[in-house]
Amino acid sequence: MMKRIGVVLSAVFALELLGAFTSVGVQQAEAKKYSFRRHIWPTIRRYCSKCHRPKRVRKGKKRVIKISGGLNMKTWRLAYKNMVGQASKQAKEGFQIVFPGQPAFSYLYYKLVGNHKSPNVGGKGKRMPRKKRRLAAWRINRIVKWIQQGANK
Ligand code: HEC
Repeated sequence: MMKRIGVVLSAVFALELLGAFTSVGVQQAEAKKYSFRRHIWPTIRRYCSKCHRPKRVRKGKKRVIKISGGLNMKTWRLAYKNMVGQASKQAKEGFQIVFPGQPAFSYLYYKLVGNHKSPNVGGKGKRMPRKKRRLAAWRINRIVKWIQQGANK
């Protein structure tokens, strides 16, 4: 009798294990697809758009419009258009601000981590967001995954 219960219990256990493995498998198969507007723009809007949008500034007697880094990210459409597939004004040739499918050639990634001045990147200026704390790792990781997945809108 005890032996039978033991066999039944271990069968249940084995099934549960199997269940756990298959649900891990399913999660991997359905790797989250990131979109710029839904998953990346909220970070950009919160941490970057304040500077990266047109601002009126006084230049002697004149008033001129200035955008930090010449990179306008006032709306999600502008942010997408001005980063994805666009050459960086700072990094070496071959880098784009966001190079779809190629995080290693996406200058944005280096500017967020702060290793943008390394010789193979050849960038300049400050880490972004400028004068603020580095973005949380999960936000940077999400941006990297989004780029890997093709930097979709
Ligand atoms: C306090 C203002 C400020 C904030 C906030 C800020 N930036 Fe910048 N950004 C600048 C300025 C000024 C430059 C140009 C000088 C430099 O690179 O340090 C610049 C340059 C850049 C460049 C380089 C553009 C090029 O052509 O290569 C990128 C990319 C960039 N910023 C991305 C971001 C991102 C992404 C965020 C938010 C996480 C952000 N910035 C937040 C002011 C800011």
